[in-house]
Amino acid sequence: MDRLEVICSRLPRCRVLADVGCDHGYATAYALRSGLCGRAYACDVSAASLKKAETLLQEEIAAGRCVPVCTDGLDGVSDADCVLIAGMGGEEIVGILSRVPLPERFVLQPMRNTEKVRRFLVARGARIEEDFTFEDGKFYDLIAGSGGGGDCYTDFEFRYGRDNLRAPGAAFLKKMRREADVVRQALSSAKEEREALLARLHETEAIIDAIEERL
Ligand SMILES: C[S@@+](CC[C@H](N)C(=O)[O-])C[C@H]1O[C@@H](n2cnc3c(N)ncnc32)[C@H](O)[C@@H]1O
Repeated sequence: MDRLEVICSRLPRCRVLADVGCDHGYATAYALRSGLCGRAYACDVSAASLKKAETLLQEEIAAGRCVPVCTDGLDGVSDADCVLIAGMGGEEIVGILSRVPLPERFVLQPMRNTEKVRRFLVARGARIEEDFTFEDGKFYDLIAGSGGGGDCYTDFEFRYGRDNLRAPGAAFLKKMRREADVVRQALSSAKEEREALLARLHETEAIIDAIEERL
């Protein structure tokens, strides 16, 4: 399934959505046009990226339903009850969310360091309602939930994602099989390297023995 389709399918109904790092603005457009939210902020730190969203959302902007904001994270945006951050690194997502109170609802799609996002959310008292891996050419993680309510994760769940362990989907199984192949390959290279090193050691020891016998 298309990455953005998966993300949009997880957006909850809300009053005001903030799409942080909106770039082209597709998710904002989806949320507004399907009536999921009453208003939306399309936010991006890059003016060039925001321009794309402004072009796509010109009708909604003219109607006062969408406000484009060129800003770092959620700086200057305070009344959103749902925050979407997709396509950014986990550390960047944590950085953005740590500067504000957790939103009532969130949908996050980190590109890497998902474990750091899970740990941050649980430490801040969030309740994680969805936490799964999906595939669209590559593997992606999606985390959705509420800013309050609290949650409890095991170390394994922090590392792999709770839904992936409780109700694994085909994408997660495929990802784990891929990971096992990578580890097997690394082990086999390590074994070959060890054997080559042992052969070199035996060779040099044999030369040393031969020289020492002549002394
Ligand atoms: C890879 S795009 C993702 C676009 C869209 N959210 C998606 O998932 O398809 C990342 C976007 O995040 C923006 N961005 C990166 N860091 C940001 C920050 N700290 N605050 C706001 N936007 C940021 C970039 O300018 C870029 O447009």
